[in-house]
Amino acid sequence: MSRFNAQEKHRICLTLNGVPVEGEAEPRLLLTDFLRQNIGMTGTHVGCEHGVCGACTVEVNGQLTRACLTLAVQIDGCEVRTVEGLAPQPGRLGILQAAFKRHHALQCGFCTAGILMSLDYFLSHHKSPSEGDIRDLLSGHLCRCTGYTPIVQAALEAVREFEKLGSEKTDA
Ligand code: FES
Ligand code: FES
Repeated sequence: MSRFNAQEKHRICLTLNGVPVEGEAEPRLLLTDFLRQNIGMTGTHVGCEHGVCGACTVEVNGQLTRACLTLAVQIDGCEVRTVEGLAPQPGRLGILQAAFKRHHALQCGFCTAGILMSLDYFLSHHKSPSEGDIRDLLSGHLCRCTGYTPIVQAALEAVREFEKLGSEKTDA
């Protein structure tokens, strides 16, 4: 008869930002800890550890996911995207990241990875969101530094840039 062993390590195979990755995790290990400690991807931050602050937000199989509410063993075989996957190439910022930089939309940066992941997902699914839409999205994230205004400004500027890129593609 097999008995559950809380210490037993399980092999986890996933695709992380487009690259196959393997690691090991005990059944109780959170995805946040697996990403940060077991495979060294420290871009994902850990704040409240109970699903409220949004700092740990990642994409799992194309859905926004709180990594602090997910067990590492649950992502075996999944596609995971983290903030490290947002840059188009090493050393280059994406449109949203560059807008954050221009608008000083981060101070301590603790909330930033999660907010970037949510905004990236949201802007790829909503082509012309209003300021109200963006503020609604941000209601799922806590930022103690910025007062949110520069984050909203950065997101709106990214929206305008994406619109411009879209119309250039349509005109071509
Ligand atoms: S650390 Fe996951 S929501 Fe706060
Ligand atoms: S920049 Fe510090 S918590 Fe948002």
